[in-house]
Formats: sequence, C-alpha cells, structure tokens
Amino acid sequence: MRTRPMLPALAASAALAGCAGAPTPLPEPASEGARLVAARCGACHAVPHPARLRATDWPAMLALMERRMGERGLAPLAADERRAILAYLQAHARP
Ligand code: HEC
Repeated sequence: MRTRPMLPALAASAALAGCAGAPTPLPEPASEGARLVAARCGACHAVPHPARLRATDWPAMLALMERRMGERGLAPLAADERRAILAYLQAHARP
C-alpha cells in the first residue's frame, strides 16, 4: 500500500515555523521603550515588533490597544508609559 505524499504535512509545519519560530527580537532591548512594550504589549498577543507599522500609523493603533486594555480590565498606560512606548514604536517603525 502506497503512503500518501507528505506535502501537506510539510506545508503545515513550514507555516507553523513561520509563526511559532523565534520572534524577531525587539530593537534596543534594554531601552525603557522596549521594556515597556515587552511588559505591556504581550498580554493578549505576541509582543509586536515596532517595524510592523509605519510611524504615522502607531498613534491610532496605540489608542486602539488602550481601548482593548480597558475592555479587558487591564491597567491603563500611565501618561509617561504611553509617551515612552509611542516614541519607541515610532523610532523603530517600518520606514
Ligand atoms: C487587552 C489586550 C491587548 C493588549 C494588552 C494589546 N493588544 Fe494589540 N491587539 C489586541 C487585539 C484584540 C487586536 C486585534 C485587533 C483589534 O481587535 O483591535 C490587537 C492587534 C494589534 C496589532 C495589529 C496586529 C497585526 O496583525 O498587525 C498591533 C500592531 C498591536 N495589537 C500592537 C499592540 C501594542 C503595541 C500593544 C502595547 C501597547 C498592544 N498591542 C497591547 C489586543 C491587545
């Protein structure tokens, strides 16, 4: 009896590797911004890389994320945390 080709399984494991492999590390990992993003932005999904969005798109996304934090009953960002996170995300945003 012939075994079925293994292509679907290979494709599935490749897709998983793309997603579940080691995430791209945050730039300047010791900076305040990176520490805050790691601490506050990984509660609901993987910690997002700043290069995911352009600098001009981060303010609206951050505002949306603050709304999601409120909906989930998470502590809101303090004003200085918000400033540091936004500055960090924009400094390392997608060009
Ligand atoms: C309370 C849960 C929660 C926290 C905490 C949170 N997010 Fe999100 N995030 C979401 C949800 C839910 C979505 C899906 C879009 C939506 O429904 O708003 C999302 C989507 C995103 C996306 C879009 C994902 C994509 O596929 O491009 C980005 C970028 C993002 N979040 C960044 C952040 C950043 C930066 C922080 C920290 C400031 C953060 N998130 C913290 C819940 C959260």
